[in-house]
This record gives sequence, structure tokens and C-alpha cells, in this order.
Amino acid sequence: MGIQITPSILTADFADLGAELARIPSSDWIHVDVMDNHFVPNLTFGPRTIEALSNATSRPIDAHLMITDADRNAAAYVEAGAASVTFHVEAATAPVRLAREIRSAGARASMALRPATPVDPYEDLLPELDMVLIMTVEPGFGGQKFLDLCLPKIRRARELMDKHGVETWLQVDGGVSLETIERCAEAGADVFVAGSAVFDAEDPDAMIAALREKATGAADRA
Ligand code: DX5
Ligand code: ZN
Repeated sequence: MGIQITPSILTADFADLGAELARIPSSDWIHVDVMDNHFVPNLTFGPRTIEALSNATSRPIDAHLMITDADRNAAAYVEAGAASVTFHVEAATAPVRLAREIRSAGARASMALRPATPVDPYEDLLPELDMVLIMTVEPGFGGQKFLDLCLPKIRRARELMDKHGVETWLQVDGGVSLETIERCAEAGADVFVAGSAVFDAEDPDAMIAALREKATGAADRA
């Protein structure tokens, strides 16, 4: 699939999301951070926003659920139009059942790990997943500093995917910028979420191109 850049609208203008989407025409996905003020100390969007966004753009919606009780709520985001649904393994009671439910509802199933959650215990789940998201900040807010301590886990996740011969994508989210994206790509990530780096840029679409170029260069060198 190659390198994909997935801007997070968390740092965009919430009063004019339609116009914000028009500023990033070359994004591969639109990353939507769903927060319930319980799993994380912040509150954002629900299924109705996902539905409105998916009607407003032809680009696929990547829903990142930072909510407790993911098992009960994830299906609503597929119904709302998300093409990929990411649940946090720390918030899922039955991740295998949940991943299967998301897939059978017609979306890509993805599992996220907070910075302190190791990937090794979930090795056997990889064939059930279309993507693994390694958080490179503590989830909850945009604009935080990238945590280098997560790099070995990105590398390890890539090793496990290679070992199992799966086509699972490896996404990173948090503090991804021109300064940090090469480290992530060298470690094996191929899907890059960037919030503040894109939406705080004067030209967000030019920033997507610049991030893509850096990630592609680093992946080719690795
Ligand atoms: C954080 C969210 C991220 C956030 C990234 O909990 O999951 O998607 O928007 O923002 P930046 O790129 O500014 O760290
Ligand atoms: Zn996110």
C-alpha cells in the first residue's frame, strides 16, 4: 500500500469542518478522534459527526475511538460511515470478537496501544486486524511532544507482522511532524496521523506532501 498520510481534524476549526476538509485534498484518510471524557480527559465527536463528515467527503474516514466500552459502541461508527475503526485494546473486553464485528460490518478493524501497552501479548491477534495503531503520545490531546520511547515498539510490531506474513498496516499517532516522521518510518510505520503539524501549517496540503516525502525517503533507506 505504501506510505499514507492521515490528518487528524482534532486541531482543525470545529465550526467549519467542511472547509477544513477542502484544505487537505491530498490526504489519504481523514482521522477523527472520538473521545468520551472517560477513557481520556477530553470530549469530542460521536457517530453523527462521523456520518456528516463521511457525507461531506469522498475520502475514507479513519475513526480512532478513545472510549470505554468499545465493545458496545464500535459498531455504531461503522454504521455512521467510518471505513476504518480503531479501538483501544485497554478499553476492549473481547478484542477478537470486536475486530470480527467491525470487519463483518464492512470496515477495516484496527487496534490501538497506549504508550505503556506492549505489543507482544497481542501477537496472535494480528491476523484479525487490518491495522495496529501505536500511540506516540498519551491519547487525549493534540499538540503533545512525540515520545521516542515508543520507537522500539513500532519496530517490534513490524517484526511480528513480518513474522506472521500479514498485510496489517502500522499506524503512528501523536507528535508526528517533519521532525519525527522519519524515525517512525525507519522503524516500520506506514500510516501517519498528523494533527497540529498539518492544521497549524500555513498550507496544510503542502505539509501533507512534505510529510509524505520525508516518510517515503526514510522507508526507502530503511
Ligand atoms: C491524540 C489523538 C491524535 C491527535 C494528534 O489523542 O489521537 O490523533 O490529534 O495530534 P498531534 O499530531 O498534534 O499530536
Ligand atoms: Zn488519533
